[in-house]
Amino acid sequence: MKKAFWKEAVVYQIYPRSFMDSNGDGIGDLQGIASKLDYLKELGVDVIWLSPVFKSPNDDNGYDISDYRDIMDEFGTMADWEQLLEGIHGRGMKLMMDLVVNHSSDEHAWFMESRSSKDSPYRDYYIWRPANEKGEEPNNWVSFFGGSAWQYDEATGEYFLHLFSKKQPDLNWENPTLRKEVYDMMTFWLDKGIDGFRMDVINCISKTPGLPSVGEDRYAWGGEHFMNGPRIHEFLQEMNREVLSKYDIMTVGEMPGATVDQAKLYTGEDRGELNMVFQFEHMDVDSGPGGKWDVRPWTLKGLRDILHKWQVGLEHTGWNSLYLNNHDQPRMVSRFGDAERYHKESAKMLATLLHTLKGTPYIYQGEEFGMTNVKFPSINDYRDIETLNMYREHHIEQGKPEAQTMASIYAKGRDNARTPMQWDASPNGGFTTGTPWIASNPNYVTINAEQSINDPDSIFHYYKKLIALRKQHAIITYGRYELILPEHDEIYAYTRELDGELWLVMLNFFGGEPVFELPEHLAHNARELMISSYDDVDAAQDIRHLKLRPYEARVYKLTV
Ligand code: NOJ
Repeated sequence: MKKAFWKEAVVYQIYPRSFMDSNGDGIGDLQGIASKLDYLKELGVDVIWLSPVFKSPNDDNGYDISDYRDIMDEFGTMADWEQLLEGIHGRGMKLMMDLVVNHSSDEHAWFMESRSSKDSPYRDYYIWRPANEKGEEPNNWVSFFGGSAWQYDEATGEYFLHLFSKKQPDLNWENPTLRKEVYDMMTFWLDKGIDGFRMDVINCISKTPGLPSVGEDRYAWGGEHFMNGPRIHEFLQEMNREVLSKYDIMTVGEMPGATVDQAKLYTGEDRGELNMVFQFEHMDVDSGPGGKWDVRPWTLKGLRDILHKWQVGLEHTGWNSLYLNNHDQPRMVSRFGDAERYHKESAKMLATLLHTLKGTPYIYQGEEFGMTNVKFPSINDYRDIETLNMYREHHIEQGKPEAQTMASIYAKGRDNARTPMQWDASPNGGFTTGTPWIASNPNYVTINAEQSINDPDSIFHYYKKLIALRKQHAIITYGRYELILPEHDEIYAYTRELDGELWLVMLNFFGGEPVFELPEHLAHNARELMISSYDDVDAAQDIRHLKLRPYEARVYKLTV
């Protein structure tokens, strides 16, 4: 397996709106981020991924871009951005920017031109269709955010496609001029010195020709016609040839619905596409047939089977990205740990998983000291367009009980991840001196970065240790992964192996104290404890018949 910086790196995701506000307007900004770079350096991260900072009317918090070459007013200026890049590079870190080119904002100059007339040279930058023979939407697809994926536009009497909100019209990748515009824009940022792109829903850019409906229902999920579509590999290979291959950078494609086999095609080293993908299978372990809001309990077997499949599937071809939360997902300690009874223990155990599987780990802001989900009392406290749409659809239009609707939001809503970063115990967690754009999670008083830095046994210090360990031992990046105890209900255990070196990772996923026996070939006592989530592991303990404590994580090097 070839070595690469992006395999060895630890990435830290910043959601700028919620990270640090420097000017008291209640919205995080670039100068705020710049003021926290020493904190990130101290943690040990290599790459910072910035969620979008481009001009945007903020229908979807910057994922609706009205000018790809300029900075959002609330976040600062291009000069601020340049200073931030300098600060990042000056500290030996790298910067990965968000590339949102499945769609733009409806306030982008291209779209305003496009909607103005059927003859506009920009008409074909977007996907316009007349009504069908019944006078309805051109097809029956629904958008990711609910409701039809088509919006009627008076000016020219046609509909445009939007897989997300109606202020996010889809770009038409069939048009070579549009593709060239995108590549030029990417080059503009790369020439400014950025180190990579995270590509928003990039496997949705190729749609089935003819845009066929799915089944007979009035509205249906059309994913099969726009996820991993017919020209996707051609487009990515072209992008790679025209742009990516000319720079030493990293790329990660966000890919809802991608399977292991597809990911091999996207990330195979000889294919000239991307370095890695964000797959979503493990983010659906607690979803029922009704989708993400149809919340079900997850099982360790369900989660492990998926992670295992991806570990084994990309062993020889491709590369995994490792994440359990981001700005679209609930907080991992609330979802997969126990934020009430075992906050510290379960956050450390999940961190051990992310930093000892094979792949590139992604930390989402606040994860490093265990930020949790939030339960705001009223829907009026929520800001996320997806959440607000779902509330309207489920509770107001379909009449589902409010308590049930709010329970889904508490479990899965994206604002769980978007409450302000909790820096310290001062008002609003030190995020702003003004009124934050979304309320802080009241638990900032006890869960915050300052507290975690001051406690040597904290989640923060454990992350530091995990990251440092990765830097010291190539086995964590490059070692072969092998599952052990595949049927255990409470423990996820695996080995990593490189050049005769063998590591054993044992993770107790619950609050019990399971006892287990290691398989014969690992059941010997010559070992060294590399890291553990409890600080008092008995060195003389017999590991052949082991009992793990609640959410305990241990990593041993076995000296064979
Ligand atoms: C995925 C992004 O992560 C999410 O925040 C956004 O709403 C959609 N793509 C649309 O850009």
